[in-house]
Amino acid sequence: MVDREAIVNLVRNIKQQALEERDMLINALHQIQNHFGSYIPVEAAKLVAEELNVPESKVYEVLTFYTMFSIKPRGKYVVRVCVNLPCHVTGGRQIIETLKQTLGIDFDQTTSDGLFTLERTSCLGLCGVAPVIMVNDEYYGDLTPKKVKELIESLRARGEGR
Ligand code: FES
Repeated sequence: MVDREAIVNLVRNIKQQALEERDMLINALHQIQNHFGSYIPVEAAKLVAEELNVPESKVYEVLTFYTMFSIKPRGKYVVRVCVNLPCHVTGGRQIIETLKQTLGIDFDQTTSDGLFTLERTSCLGLCGVAPVIMVNDEYYGDLTPKKVKELIESLRARGEGR
């Protein structure tokens, strides 16, 4: 159940920033996604359209264009792996295999404890430290399978799961 008042207040605060329409929309969706942890419920997306007076189709266009947004519930930690060439040729394939093995899931799946979701992403702009992954808003570069396992273990120890 979506807390209608909380969503409306979030959007109204953003409206006061007098941004361009698209920036306002992206900003609102970011805040709402943070509010719900890692996704935007459809009901909340509809409220954004209503409050910003933009067609729902425009909100869904933004939601589907930017891979950082999701309308499906995701884990507490969203792990995004860069799958472009510079990362691929510097060990990215082993990083992907290690992540899949350590987490026990494939791309676009979430661990049963609700802690991790694994996703692909295109270049994160950090090719100089490839291979690169992102966990929520943090970047991790110069990765090796060992570093990836250690990172996942430390996040697991910190997280609480569902
Ligand atoms: S190709 Fe992976 S960060 Fe650029």
